[in-house]
Amino acid sequence: MKHNLVILSGAGISAESGIKTFRDADGLWENYSIEEVATPEAWQKNPNLVQKFYNERRLNVISAKPNLAHHYFSELQKHFHVQVITQNIDDLHERAGSTNVLHLHGNIRYAKSSGPNKEKKYYLIDGHELKMTDQCDDGLPLRPHVVWFGEEVPLLSKAAELIQQANVVIVIGTSLQVYPAAGLIHSIPQSALKIVVDPQADKLSVPTDFKLLNCTAQESIAFIKEMLGH
Ligand SMILES: NC(=O)c1ccc[n+]([C@@H]2O[C@H](COP(=O)([O-])OP(=O)(O)OC[C@H]3O[C@@H](n4cnc5c(N)ncnc54)[C@H](O)[C@@H]3O)[C@@H](O)[C@H]2O)c1
Repeated sequence: MKHNLVILSGAGISAESGIKTFRDADGLWENYSIEEVATPEAWQKNPNLVQKFYNERRLNVISAKPNLAHHYFSELQKHFHVQVITQNIDDLHERAGSTNVLHLHGNIRYAKSSGPNKEKKYYLIDGHELKMTDQCDDGLPLRPHVVWFGEEVPLLSKAAELIQQANVVIVIGTSLQVYPAAGLIHSIPQSALKIVVDPQADKLSVPTDFKLLNCTAQESIAFIKEMLGH
């Protein structure tokens, strides 16, 4: 039987694909403040700006390619039952071939209703642009399928359930500053092998039984291969 390997990824895994992280840029996300573009209040105040911001991010994601780290984790499916739990709104894990991907914060390639039915149905966006005139079945404007700061994370308990069954967990490219996602590391079983990959790994707040790989996602592959034997 294959062992369960969980990848808990954040923006850093996609940095080497040309998608900027959020924390590295002084709390600004591509020169925008989070309050301006990634909260329900921002959508109420200036929906056009929010759409523009996510349309730009979507174009960036569509133009980017999965890097060696995304591909390596997909290859590991030959040897492990791999579950990716990602905070990323990009789809690079899927495009590298990973089949079990849970998007804690949504997937920017999709849209959803801006009303109370927002988690009922997701619509694949054709191209990079979502317009204010694009409507959902309920007649309300479509908004990006992302979880904004201050919103509930609908898949959190599912993610906790999955991580509780892990034999190996690789936490990669996350500053562990965004809650409740960051709290998932406390649901990892004590017996699991735990690895954290980040150029700032030694500065992250993780329990002492984590093995720290202070390097980029792509640089970590050789070390992880040695640890896992694959
Ligand atoms: N690609 C994306 O989808 C994307 C990009 C930016 C922000 N976000 C959103 O913003 C939030 C940010 O939280 P977060 O913790 O995921 O990211 P974060 O930006 O807070 O932290 C990124 C982490 O990645 C590390 N890092 C930088 N370059 C790296 C590399 N080459 N290899 C490995 N690690 C590297 C940094 O040291 C940092 O600790 C998330 O919830 C996410 O939804 C997503």
